[in-house]
Amino acid sequence: MSAEARIDRIAVPDLAQRKGGEPIVCLTAYTTPIARLLDPHVDLLLVGDSLGMVLYGFESTLQVTLEMMIAHGAAVRRGSRRACLVVDLPFASYQESPAVAFRSAARVMAETGSSAVKLEGGVEMAETIAFLTRRGIPVMGHVGLTPQAVNGLRGYRARGRNPLEAKAIKADAAAVAEAGAFNIVLEGVVEPLAREIVASVSTPIIGIGASPACDGQVLVVDDMTGLFGEFKPKFVKRFAELGTEVGKAAAAYAAEVRARRFPAPEHLFGLGTNAKT
Ligand code: KIV
Repeated sequence: MSAEARIDRIAVPDLAQRKGGEPIVCLTAYTTPIARLLDPHVDLLLVGDSLGMVLYGFESTLQVTLEMMIAHGAAVRRGSRRACLVVDLPFASYQESPAVAFRSAARVMAETGSSAVKLEGGVEMAETIAFLTRRGIPVMGHVGLTPQAVNGLRGYRARGRNPLEAKAIKADAAAVAEAGAFNIVLEGVVEPLAREIVASVSTPIIGIGASPACDGQVLVVDDMTGLFGEFKPKFVKRFAELGTEVGKAAAAYAAEVRARRFPAPEHLFGLGTNAKT
């Protein structure tokens, strides 16, 4: 990695200072070509463990491994030069103890060149977040609807509708901020609660299914481009319909192959000396 390549990137301290300022623009990315397309437009590329569901067809994110995150993190790094790169720690790679979390995070950062890791959890992960940040590993928190805990959460429904749950989520955000997270993803919570958390925590809050009052927004790239068509959560806005376009392209290709209209003369190599003709 050249020093020059690092200097161009938006750094963790830049994002840590964006409370109440210009909203932080974040999208997930999992591959080099998609990272290349997104990089000029976003502040932060998140290699989310959502890749388990959108790329690998898993039912949840629980089957995602550290090796998968490292391979995709390195691919996104190769496709980007400007956005801050954050890679998710997958399920079971950090919950056991701060020391286990440190080893996983250190591997991710060394092998992908990411600037930080993200991990899910609130009060119960505060000690780990403090352990990592004190040892040079910037951490992005993730509270509210935390998909790695889906089995204990009654599915992917929005959280914070009852006072007890709302109080717990507020305590989670406060604990993660206090532990030193530089940004916190707040996912799938009712809007008034999200607004209250944004106002009460000095760490920038990046919302997904949260509130326009958040200090930034994140979406899963395959959701917002329409490439992932299995289901569309209420909080997703489709900014393109690439899934439909890919289906149309495949149908047109199939029709032309079957009719022997493709390949056409311009796609064929002749006997000329120029290797390209
Ligand atoms: O895994 C992921 O993509 C995420 C975002 C949805 C925040 O955690």
